[in-house]
Amino acid sequence: MPERTAAARRPARLVPFLLLLALVAGCSPERYPQTALLPLSDYARIGDHVQDQTFYWALGVFVLVEGALLYAIFRFRGRPDDPEPPQIHGNTTIEIIWTLIPALILAAIAVPTVKGIFETNASPTGDVLKIEVIGHQWWWEFRYPDLNVTTANELHVPVGRTVELLQNSADVVHSFWPPRFAGKRDVFPGRQTRIWFKADSAGLFPGQCAEFCGIQHARMAFQVRASSPAEYDAWAAHMRTLGPKPAAAAPRGDSVKTASAGGTVQGPKVPAQGPQAKADSATPSSQDPEYAKGEQLFKMKGCIGCHSLQAVDAPKGMIGPNLATVGSRAYIAAGWLRNTDENLEHWIREPQTVKKGVLMPNLGVTAEEAKALRAYLRAHQ
Ligand code: CUA
Repeated sequence: MPERTAAARRPARLVPFLLLLALVAGCSPERYPQTALLPLSDYARIGDHVQDQTFYWALGVFVLVEGALLYAIFRFRGRPDDPEPPQIHGNTTIEIIWTLIPALILAAIAVPTVKGIFETNASPTGDVLKIEVIGHQWWWEFRYPDLNVTTANELHVPVGRTVELLQNSADVVHSFWPPRFAGKRDVFPGRQTRIWFKADSAGLFPGQCAEFCGIQHARMAFQVRASSPAEYDAWAAHMRTLGPKPAAAAPRGDSVKTASAGGTVQGPKVPAQGPQAKADSATPSSQDPEYAKGEQLFKMKGCIGCHSLQAVDAPKGMIGPNLATVGSRAYIAAGWLRNTDENLEHWIREPQTVKKGVLMPNLGVTAEEAKALRAYLRAHQ
């Protein structure tokens, strides 16, 4: 009885379907926050609206077509002694109908799509905060010209105020994508692209490079930190204190500046310049003896050649991310590692193990030195 066997198998065939359903039901924004389906800005809502419209049309088509198919299967099911059904080649009326319906559906989808393209391409007006986004292999630089501060891998935006991102690349083509706030926008060397959004919720949200840009493309993430206007002002005020050290506290300030502006770690190491580790009074952990040691190592090991520690007047064209606030960042290594002491030390000691091919070389840092460097960097918040 082949029919019986097939019927018995039917419930079993539903199992993978049900498993898939359970899997999809388990997708929650808490676990997968990098989604464009939960928009948190005006810009993202435009894209989400187009997506919703398209989805509902597709759902309608699916239900109608599958419904008609199932109806036909059961209603006109062939019996063993049925005669051969009449053969028809074509029906002009039906051909016209099923050409017209998709054309109308496409037109209905095109209207919000084209409207959305014009809306998102328009330049924002009014009280707009301009932020420069610079893609690097493999991290993101954010410069806030209105505030004269710089951050790396964390984009700080105020809730309720439009930000316009002016984007560029220092090397190859990347694509900036903060899914909760905006769409993807490619960044190019030597050409500026723009995108804008007005965040409507505070919090920390992930973003990602969305264009293959080399071996560590997948680990070129960033965080968007959206905060209330008052919190944002407090943050900006704090950032403005993270400027260059007064000349007295930074002996041979010129040589340090030169190294910051263009030095590379492959070049000769900056020599130790005596016990000049003057405590920075603005730094909370400056009393920590590890801090002074770390400060010296930061110069001796050549870290200073690629990384600036000042958020104000930060030098342009640095190879490595700005570290002025590295101590308080949620992640390090461009969103790849949680910013724990253990991870920070591991990252300093073995960057090539953590992110193979990254421009930061293994500098032969010992475990003890990594601890000191970690203490020094942790104090930069
Ligand atoms: Cu940068 Cu992919």
